[in-house]
Amino acid sequence: MEAREARRRLKEAKRVAVLTGAGISAPSGIPTFRDAGGLWKDFRIEDYATPEAYRRDPLKVWEWYAWRYANAMQAQPNRAHRLLAELERQFTTPSPHVGDRLTPTAREGSGFLLVTQNVDGLHARAGSTHLVELHGSIGRARCEECGARFPLPDPGLFIPPPVCPKCGGRGRPDVVWFGELLPPGAFERAENAFAKAEVALVVGTSAEIEPAASLGRLASWAGAYLIEINPNQTPLSRLADCSLRMGAIEGLEALLSPTSLLDLE
Ligand code: APR
Repeated sequence: MEAREARRRLKEAKRVAVLTGAGISAPSGIPTFRDAGGLWKDFRIEDYATPEAYRRDPLKVWEWYAWRYANAMQAQPNRAHRLLAELERQFTTPSPHVGDRLTPTAREGSGFLLVTQNVDGLHARAGSTHLVELHGSIGRARCEECGARFPLPDPGLFIPPPVCPKCGGRGRPDVVWFGELLPPGAFERAENAFAKAEVALVVGTSAEIEPAASLGRLASWAGAYLIEINPNQTPLSRLADCSLRMGAIEGLEALLSPTSLLDLE
């Protein structure tokens, strides 16, 4: 059965790369973009998520991001975020001392990287540290004058636009808008991990937005075992070695939980 094989591969792999999208945060109450009820159903990208929109009406764009920021800060990481943080620790936490030596875990120091398209900060709050936020973070601003990045104040105290603590310039949302480049080095780091991965795990993304969507294809073409978790079919599904047509929590429980039912069958 595919899922059992996928679970075995994840257990044994020395290099794992994970890509997540808005679907992993849906159970935390954060809206996706293209699903029924998604953000782009109620808001036009051209009005809120392009440099032109911001130039045209910075305060309107800031009010929208301040609203999303407050939602993200009220939300809690869910079991799926936590399971991925636990998976990372299998690669990065030394096993207990044996005698007076640290016996490195079988996978310690191997390759694990979590790449997310999400800007909600929930992976970091769940404890993930080997993390690339490809599209930036809704909890940060970037100064339009000096380029400094700085955290936004508590949502209850935040009155946009934020003022740069370094130079007093106006801050813009530190997210990647349509038509903008990704943060320097972010995609190269992600590409490197997916090109070398033995297992690539893609969770909760419609796989429609490039260049993030290319990561799953890259891993598959490089010979990785590709796993997709999504209740719906995506352009990536035909390449997946294992496609779990279910939600992120259910799928990651099956693949990663120590009490997975897959071990019982
Ligand atoms: N578990 C897993 N997947 C889910 C769940 C869930 N509980 N609920 C929904 N999904 C899936 C949907 O089937 C859909 O394929 O999550 C996906 C969400 O797709 P999008 O809304 O397109 O979000 P995403 O793929 O992250 O969008 C990529 O587009 O608008 C830009 O910058 C924005 O980062 C975003 C990028």
